[in-house]
Amino acid sequence: MRACIQGWGTAVPEQRLTNADLEARVDTTDAWIVERTGIRERRIAAPGDTTASLAIEAGTAAIKHAGIPPDAVDLLIVATATPEQPIPHTGAFVGEGLGLRCGSFDLGAGCAGFVYMLVAGSSLLTAGGLDHVLVVGAETLSRLIDPEDRSTFVLFGDGAAAAVLSRSPDDGPGVLAWDLGCDGSAAGLLEIRAGGSRMPATPETIAAGEQYLKMQGQEVFRRAVRAVVDSARMTLDRAGVTASDVAWFVPHQANIRIIDSAAGRLGISEERTIVNIERYGNTSAASIPLALAEAADDGRVRDGDLVLMSGFGAGMTWGSALVRWGKA
Ligand code: ACO
Repeated sequence: MRACIQGWGTAVPEQRLTNADLEARVDTTDAWIVERTGIRERRIAAPGDTTASLAIEAGTAAIKHAGIPPDAVDLLIVATATPEQPIPHTGAFVGEGLGLRCGSFDLGAGCAGFVYMLVAGSSLLTAGGLDHVLVVGAETLSRLIDPEDRSTFVLFGDGAAAAVLSRSPDDGPGVLAWDLGCDGSAAGLLEIRAGGSRMPATPETIAAGEQYLKMQGQEVFRRAVRAVVDSARMTLDRAGVTASDVAWFVPHQANIRIIDSAAGRLGISEERTIVNIERYGNTSAASIPLALAEAADDGRVRDGDLVLMSGFGAGMTWGSALVRWGKA
């Protein structure tokens, strides 16, 4: 048995924050942001929106698109780096909003979250004989970014995207191969220090801005290209195919230069690489499914296509999955 992507859905906030808007807030320019990152605008959650509300909207759309009743979902996984609150897990709120009573858990793997969730969800589906697993990548990164830090504020955006994984026959569409990894020795390159067990939030941590995301961008950049390329190659090897067999490469949308560099090293052309970073920025666990859903909706990704997804993120994690596109 395999697990295929039977349905998908997205939710992006209406509010657009353009580079011109950012020029008015921090010491930056549209030219710098476009040249260094490829980003032109990002979406920002409305005050009433949260990670869970975006996840519920995306999940509802994915369930509808899969053509199943909500109570047919056997398991819910939510990947996020911006949870609703520390306790309980975000999946509790998302399950409640979707009217589900199945098991749920959160998955923390930074921007590699969707690939991790695809692997976890498809493995549990096939091993446990489940019919449908709902996986949702959802983020409100705008809530955890220092609005005065130009080096991070320009990069991130909010959004959610979901997929329903369903049973497919052995020779049918679905997840064919994958690779996951994490090098925790690099955990300090991208982190929010305060608010957890190691450094509980106090007036002092807040005064020091430790509730905000801190990143060593250049080192993340260097490692990201290497991790994506190695992990993608490993995944292709495991499936017994080459990069020329891949119809579509869907990389994590963190920086257009990382995407171009990784795709170039893999030998995958621009025409076969899905990019939407210019409109959403980095939406972490939502970024790969958001790009994938757009490409599936506009007819670029077609039944039978081999789709290679690769992500990397805080941890530092990385992960790739190769999927034969199509519904069961
Ligand atoms: N506008 C103008 N100038 C800026 C800005 C800005 N928004 N941000 C930084 N600069 C300046 C810096 O201060 C520096 O100035 P200096 O030379 O006077 O010191 C100069 O630009 C160059 O800074 P660098 O950090 O060297 O710029 P770089 O080309 O590396 O680009 C960037 C920075 C875009 C962050 C890049 O390193 C990057 O994309 N890294 C990867 C980030 C990433 O992928 N993160 C996501 C991980 S996923 C997750 O799990 C959340």
